[in-house]
Amino acid sequence: MPELLPYQDRELSVERRTEDLMSRMTVEEMVGQLVQADGRKQAAEQVRDGRVGSFLHILGPTTLELQKLAEKTGLGIPLLFGIDAIHGHGFWEGATVFPTQLSLSCSWNPELLEVMGRITAKEMLCTGLHWTFSPVLCLARDMRWGRVGETFGEDPHLLGVLGKALVRGYQGNSISDPDSVIACAKHFAGYSETVGGRDASEAELSERKLRTYFLPPFHEMVKAGCKSFMTAYQCIDGVACVVNRWLLTDVLRGEWGFQGFVVTDWNNVGRTHTEQGLYASIEEAVPPSLRAGNDMIMVTPEFYDAALSQLRKGKLAKEDVELACRRVLSHKFEFGLFDHKRYPPLNKVPEVVGSPQHREPLLRCALESIVLLKNERPENASKRILPLSSNIRHLALLGPNADDILAQLGDWSFGSGQAGLNTGGHPRHLVSTVRDGVREKARTRAITVDYERGCDVMSDDLSHIARAAELAAACDVAIVVVGDVLAQIGETRDRYELDLTGGQMPLLEAVKKTGTPLVVVLINSKPLCIPWVAEHADAIIEAFNPGMRGGEAIAEILFGEANPMGKLTVSFPAAVGQQPVYYQQIPGWHGNKHNNYTNKPLFAFGYGLSYTTYTSDRLELSRRELRRGESVEVSVNVKNSGGRPGTEIVQLYLNDVFSSLSTPEKTLKAYQRVHLERGQTETVRFQLTPEDLSFIGRDGRPLTEPGEFEVMVGSSSRDEDLLRARFTLLDE
Ligand code: NOJ
Repeated sequence: MPELLPYQDRELSVERRTEDLMSRMTVEEMVGQLVQADGRKQAAEQVRDGRVGSFLHILGPTTLELQKLAEKTGLGIPLLFGIDAIHGHGFWEGATVFPTQLSLSCSWNPELLEVMGRITAKEMLCTGLHWTFSPVLCLARDMRWGRVGETFGEDPHLLGVLGKALVRGYQGNSISDPDSVIACAKHFAGYSETVGGRDASEAELSERKLRTYFLPPFHEMVKAGCKSFMTAYQCIDGVACVVNRWLLTDVLRGEWGFQGFVVTDWNNVGRTHTEQGLYASIEEAVPPSLRAGNDMIMVTPEFYDAALSQLRKGKLAKEDVELACRRVLSHKFEFGLFDHKRYPPLNKVPEVVGSPQHREPLLRCALESIVLLKNERPENASKRILPLSSNIRHLALLGPNADDILAQLGDWSFGSGQAGLNTGGHPRHLVSTVRDGVREKARTRAITVDYERGCDVMSDDLSHIARAAELAAACDVAIVVVGDVLAQIGETRDRYELDLTGGQMPLLEAVKKTGTPLVVVLINSKPLCIPWVAEHADAIIEAFNPGMRGGEAIAEILFGEANPMGKLTVSFPAAVGQQPVYYQQIPGWHGNKHNNYTNKPLFAFGYGLSYTTYTSDRLELSRRELRRGESVEVSVNVKNSGGRPGTEIVQLYLNDVFSSLSTPEKTLKAYQRVHLERGQTETVRFQLTPEDLSFIGRDGRPLTEPGEFEVMVGSSSRDEDLLRARFTLLDE
């Protein structure tokens, strides 16, 4: 047996092995480790030349071939393979595809996120992938932005809770665990706040705003041990995030103690020259990018040569390269890549990927995430159309998204902008569309279902609408499934309007005219402006992109086998020009509304109905006066006052009534999911800590001021759903 070199010796510490390996490397090899390349282009050549440390967007046997090739090169440094497995391993045919982040966030249930992370990790590892570019911690406040569906919605607290759970799912207790993959918190930071929802344009954010809303969820990811961060494309106050040393080093590492590694977004460095006009050449952009704190450069093909040339010219410090290389290598060691633990067990793919055990949570994920937005007949408010009555004999199932697999699974799966990656698709039998789900339930109840697509989302062809309306007229209830399609969502696909496009509105209007009760099911990546639907539909179900078993879940809810429990994590604007309508508004708007329009969202953050009813009373505080450093307990009685068991999401908001800097009138501080049997009452308790009473001062630090605070507890962020009580923080 040849003697092991220290870096090859798994008995030694990660630090020791990293230092030993570094001491053997040339600067060219070090720069190579910082390169993450698109695996679809001359991958083997780059490996042989030592010009790459990581690939993205390749899967399966190719990863193994490349890994073996890498091991034969000089020092045999293994490769790290990354992919966007952001709601399941969506680019692998037959993998388990979950509801999107936005969809799942409406469950407010971190446990489900953890389950999704665990399953995704297992399926990724089998197919050669080590690192997922997830979770997305962007705050969705402008619905025009194409990527709203990738987020957990608009609230910083909720983003933190759900993101942490997803990281736990991916990484388990440690990334050394053979079942774990590396998580990546992105896009750091403020990417969702670009002006007008224009992807990757400039975000108008002050440091205080960043620290109040946009950074806290990322800080939570550091606390959760998330091992990697991805930079954001856009500029803030003129500075591109990718070269923002304050953000990537001072805050992330200095203040928060981040120990992981930072990857840029795709061609993020190159774009500072080609798109943002910040540097006269890509070469010039390289030193500030490394200096800022990036460790790996995603797909900037010029990076490798540019870095070496800048090193030769003395414009790039060797220490910056070493620091980044050390971070990349130490994670490769920690992850077990050097010890052959990470060869993909490709033979296990059929057993693991899309396994029945993995499919089981899919239904639960969809069921808990679906939001019932309306269940009140416009002509007779006391009448409810859902759950569908057992007297129904004949249903019309209409609409372009009733049977569209791609629209149902959403972005980052086959058919999405990035799927050039692979030309496959998910096997038909693994996906249950609304058509499948309804047909199955109807069959067991001897109900006849007439299906007609009726129209298209992207074309104005109205020729099938008359037929759809004819079917609706002859049925007891019409279910119309509308929304958006992949061509309207995702990266670079921002919208200036948020309408139900193509023939969808004419279809809905035609069905309404028949007088047959109208149930609208929304399968869409994000909130659309649907005031007509809100007014005229008899019931509305919002499913967003509910994943592979979404159709079954929607059918269970339609037929009353399941009781809806999801609540919105993002506000629905009633009109595009009304944006932003997120609930955390700052008071002081003259007149509090646009001249000719309401300031209310169409459906508010935290809102969602059930087939049962809940009543809350007796909001109590353990004390009305607090000294600094003291906590207060808030309790409320919540009763299931309706006819069936259900799960209510009880939300607590806080208002610092008078503060020396403007603060929102409502900020979510805590929430609890409570399951209640019929007639059952629970006392729900929350602890408000001194930290909860602070806001960010002008110096960027938390500030707590004495005075009055208002606690609001209830079933949504709407005033009418909240009980209120006040306490005072004493000035001593
Ligand atoms: C660009 C996207 O902004 C980012 O979210 C993604 O992870 C990378 N491309 C890699 O696909």
